[in-house]
Amino acid sequence: MASSMLFKPHYLPFTTTPSSPPKSFQSYPSHFHFTNSLKFNSNNTTKKTLILPKCTTTSSSPRPPSQPRFIQHKKEAFWFYRFLSVVYDHVINPGHWTEDMRTEALEPAELDRRDLIVVDVGGGTGFTTLGIVESVDAKNVTILDQSPHQLEKAREKVELKECRIVEGDAEELSFETDYADRYVSAGSIEYWPDPQRGIKEAYRVLKMGGKACLIGPVYPTFWLSRFFADMWMLFPKEEEYVEWFEKAGFKDVQIKRIGPKWYRGVRRRGLIMGCSVTGIKPTSGDSPLQLGPKVEDVAKLVNPFVFFLRFLLGATAGVYYILVPVYMWVKDQIVPKGEPI
Ligand SMILES: C[S@@+](CC[C@H](N)C(=O)[O-])C[C@H]1O[C@@H](n2cnc3c(N)ncnc32)[C@H](O)[C@@H]1O
Repeated sequence: MASSMLFKPHYLPFTTTPSSPPKSFQSYPSHFHFTNSLKFNSNNTTKKTLILPKCTTTSSSPRPPSQPRFIQHKKEAFWFYRFLSVVYDHVINPGHWTEDMRTEALEPAELDRRDLIVVDVGGGTGFTTLGIVESVDAKNVTILDQSPHQLEKAREKVELKECRIVEGDAEELSFETDYADRYVSAGSIEYWPDPQRGIKEAYRVLKMGGKACLIGPVYPTFWLSRFFADMWMLFPKEEEYVEWFEKAGFKDVQIKRIGPKWYRGVRRRGLIMGCSVTGIKPTSGDSPLQLGPKVEDVAKLVNPFVFFLRFLLGATAGVYYILVPVYMWVKDQIVPKGEPI
């Protein structure tokens, strides 16, 4: 009860600079502060809102520009989910991506009509889709994923039997331009070699006035979590999400922080799911952003030894993130309720 109160979302203007936090931040403990990168273009008239739970630590910390990120590649991600799909729903999600987090994260997507056309990109086993079909007719929802093994699990879910299920790449969507009312993607961006391209695609496939809702991890602030995060895959900073959305052409970009209840709003240990970012497509047609060719050619042959090593190192780093939520859960049981852990 106390922990859920601590984690109640907190709505704040996203127009601040770190040196002059808005008045509403004054209610935060003194060790809560914004990083330098939470700075926004003052000429931009778009209203931005950072929706925060009551947190006890910083939002994110600087990340070195170049990291190995062994699984932030399509082939590695494909094989990663070849195995992970077996336990994904029962072992992975309960520690990182719970039903109440899903409800919180989808709330800004405004899934407010049953006849909305929705695409769930990187939809995997359909865990997020289950949240979508609570408010939208399943026949209007498409689940797209590059992993046939994950999609097989989605096919087994009776609530999703009317959904369209397609194999595809988030960075090159098979939907026509101006197709959907809502674009949802949860927990997939961290595997995309070129996240900006995926978000540009989100923009393209939406209708004018349509809304994208991208849920993803945030870069941890704890050094050990950062080490494993950097080895494993992409953990963007909150400001990177905003930048990618704005560059793609989205307006009214907002961020809402999410996390497992037993973290009590603490973000320093490293989270798998950290925020839900939304933006509105203001006009019809393709994104104004021009990009060069794709950075990763999946057809290109790779050295099997290098591939195996990358895969092994990346997967090993991922194990750390199975232990983190367990550690936090144990702390939640031990530390008196109402106190940060
Ligand atoms: C952590 S799972 C999330 C699944 C689901 N959205 C959920 O909420 O449980 C990440 C998914 O992204 C998929 N994925 C990774 N890279 C992708 C890409 N480039 N295109 C499409 N799907 C991708 C993976 O296959 C995997 O199913």
